[in-house]
Amino acid sequence: MGVTFTGCGAAAPKTVVLNDALAQVVDTSDEWISSRTGIRQRHISNDRESLAGLATQSALQALEMAGVAAADVDLILLATSSSEDLFGTACQIQAQLGATNAVAFDVTAACSGFVFGVVTAAQYLRTGAYQNALVIGADLLSRWVDWNDRNTCVLFGDGAGAVLMQATAGEDRLLGFEIRSDGSQNCCLNLAFKSELRELVPGVTLTQGKYQYITMNGKEVYRFAINRVPDAIDKVIHKANLTSADIDWLILHQANQRIMDAVAQRLQISAEKVISNVAQYGNTSAASIPIALNEAVRSGKVQAGDTIATSGFGAGLSWGAAIFNW
Ligand code: ACO
Repeated sequence: MGVTFTGCGAAAPKTVVLNDALAQVVDTSDEWISSRTGIRQRHISNDRESLAGLATQSALQALEMAGVAAADVDLILLATSSSEDLFGTACQIQAQLGATNAVAFDVTAACSGFVFGVVTAAQYLRTGAYQNALVIGADLLSRWVDWNDRNTCVLFGDGAGAVLMQATAGEDRLLGFEIRSDGSQNCCLNLAFKSELRELVPGVTLTQGKYQYITMNGKEVYRFAINRVPDAIDKVIHKANLTSADIDWLILHQANQRIMDAVAQRLQISAEKVISNVAQYGNTSAASIPIALNEAVRSGKVQAGDTIATSGFGAGLSWGAAIFNW
């Protein structure tokens, strides 16, 4: 069995926050943010816009494009690092979609989550275990950003994006993948739990606490991204028996325009082939690749049969690349 990609969708909160507005919150400027990152605005969720709600909207669009009923979905993978429930959010999406026959669970791999999700879903489809899999990337990192920290708060935004993947007896459209982790650099990017000691009964001490805000060593993450990502994509290009000239579109995790430009340059992929919407959304973590893919498909940029190289990278540290035909 092979894999095809037959639908996509995306959703973002209504509220748009411009760089100038952030300059009222922290000591920054539109000039600094846009020149260092390419970001001009981001969407920020309010109390009526939930992770599950946005993810469900994006999934419904993907199902509609593919012409597949919710009842026919076998698997829902939600890539997220900002679950509304530590037990997982995917089952809420299953209920909201009415996908009563689907098994649903979360995949946590930060900004690599969508690529890891696609690769995971492909294993179930290729073995013939399942026919229809929804892979959703969704994150509301505005909830986990320290809005007093100008090093991080200007970077992130909220959103969700989805693809429907289907098993096929025909041509396998997932041409290759490479997924990697390096926990030795874990401290570069965290959303960590901080515990406090509590003595339950004499002699029994337990730990309880809360999640902290995102902390990041921006320079290290930047260095990591521009080294690891081109290397991973290059490996997948070779595995797929392609050359970089065969790539029609490069859709990278939308973290920073400078990272996207540097990766494209290293791979000798021309700037016109780089799909970017980081200016409008900021870094939406696991959602950024499917949001960018959805816009490119619906605008007619990406056509059926086009070859797309994609890569997610971020906390873990983790990174992954995949090449597929749309
Ligand atoms: N506004 C104004 N000045 C700022 C801001 C800001 N928002 N943020 C930092 N600065 C200041 C710094 O304090 C520093 O000042 P100093 O020289 O007086 O100390 C100066 O600007 C330069 O800071 P640098 O950190 O050197 O800036 P750099 O050019 O490295 O850009 C950035 C920072 C944009 C964060 C870059 O390092 C980057 O993009 N890193 C990758 C981050 C990333 O992609 N993270 C997401 C990973 S995805 C995930 O898994 C969640």
